Amino acid sequence: MVTTLGIVLGASLTLTMVALHFARGTEHATPDDISQKVLERRAESVHETDFPEPMNRSIGGGGGAAAAVGEGGAEGELAEGGAEVDDDPAAIPDDEAETYEVEYVKEGTTIDVKENTTLLEAGEAQDWDLPYACRQGQCISCAGHITDGGNSEQYVKHHTNEMLGEPELDDGYTLTCVAYPVSDFSIEMRESP
Ligand code: FES
Repeated sequence: MVTTLGIVLGASLTLTMVALHFARGTEHATPDDISQKVLERRAESVHETDFPEPMNRSIGGGGGAAAAVGEGGAEGELAEGGAEVDDDPAAIPDDEAETYEVEYVKEGTTIDVKENTTLLEAGEAQDWDLPYACRQGQCISCAGHITDGGNSEQYVKHHTNEMLGEPELDDGYTLTCVAYPVSDFSIEMRESP
């Protein structure tokens, strides 16, 4: 009797082990690779900008800055908003733009600057290493001082200016990256309020 029971138990155990051996595990589906989708979604959420980070010369870089802006072009400058494009001096065609004499005091030179060219661009075209950062009137790295007296906007038109208030403008300060000449004058570059 004991022997029979042992044989039955042994056989049951053996069958259980065999069944377990051949049993297949639950399949686990590998998730799809979504890394490309994540990258694309992230790229869509990043706004395009003209901010010249790699060429930031306000901290001592240099070279080739004129190319970052484009020659005589109306590039960037809040064009997407629409409203400010119309009065953008950079949009004035080259053959229609008035020319003014601007004396760069520290450089010891007077040059002709067209009304569609910023004071910064005109200086860069002379290969002068002038400071700037945002090129959109949003910092003060490119500031200069017009020495003719009175409000600087008697001499330049600021296309955008988010930094200088009336007191600074009254003292003759200007943001040269967004300042287009409307008169002859003298300016000291690298001067901030
Ligand atoms: S470079 Fe920033 S205001 Fe001119």
